[in-house]
Amino acid sequence: MPATESAPRVCIVGSVNVDTFVSTPTLPKPGETVLGSAQVHTPGGKGANQAVAAAMMGAKTWFVGAVGNDDSGRVVESMFQSHGVDAHRVARLLAPTGAAIVCVAATGENSIIVIPGANMDFGAEHVRSASAEIRSADVVVLQAEISLEANRAAVDVAAACGTPVMMNLAPSPADVEAVISLVSGCEVLIVNEVEEAALFAKGARPHALGPELIVTTLGAQGVRWWHKGSEGALPAIDPGVPIIDTVGAGDAFVGAFAARWAAARVSGTPLDETVLRDLMRWGMAAGALACTKRGAITSLPNRSEVVGLLKR
Ligand code: RIB
Repeated sequence: MPATESAPRVCIVGSVNVDTFVSTPTLPKPGETVLGSAQVHTPGGKGANQAVAAAMMGAKTWFVGAVGNDDSGRVVESMFQSHGVDAHRVARLLAPTGAAIVCVAATGENSIIVIPGANMDFGAEHVRSASAEIRSADVVVLQAEISLEANRAAVDVAAACGTPVMMNLAPSPADVEAVISLVSGCEVLIVNEVEEAALFAKGARPHALGPELIVTTLGAQGVRWWHKGSEGALPAIDPGVPIIDTVGAGDAFVGAFAARWAAARVSGTPLDETVLRDLMRWGMAAGALACTKRGAITSLPNRSEVVGLLKR
């Protein structure tokens, strides 16, 4: 969906990979070998998925990240173009384009191994070269598949421009203390249960972390949230058709939430409890729909599908 002149603007700073999808009856346990099938290669990466998800909600979207000077990098660049994501700030580096092995079980559950490649060579200087895009955006979105230095630079540039930052702390970072200092500069933090547990294991408490809003996505259980001294939960949205593949559901949530939040900012609407419930419902609707199709980017819903589900 091409963005209009008045569209909300989202800048995603993050990772892009080429995913190798493998279907397997069950996910392998440590020490176990299982037989898989249907190997498919397709663009992915949490940053790229979130950028496409935001663009599919109608937001003008920039993706800032890095690929290698290889065939995978070229595939990814043309994917951004075909989805209307502005990728002119994607650096071509010497390291290979990031890759991920995505195993999907018959239940729809997944486990993923990421080989970061160029994503981890993308540094603070690259982020700073995208200051104009960060300044132009209504919302900046980060994840944890690029270096802490690059994410810190994005938070600093955004703070200097007055652009609010939303951090999706995925995957769980090894250095929780460093991350706690990073998220203190973000307005919104989105985690899943595993990431929430890692974050709070060192004694951090939601209301003292810094972000105005923290959301934990709980899959079929919906979400729980903390916002300025209050907290609550919302039930999941039933997509009405069977769940076949949960890959990309979290990214669909983040991209739709970010696009909707950017739209609220354009209209001058503050992030109060009514608005945040609306943002979470958009995120959950997009996430639920993403579970009804295979793949990551290939499963992302468009705006009218999300609106249709929310009306049901
Ligand atoms: O969230 C799903 C994504 O995680 C995949 O596309 C894979 O590349 C990993 O980054």
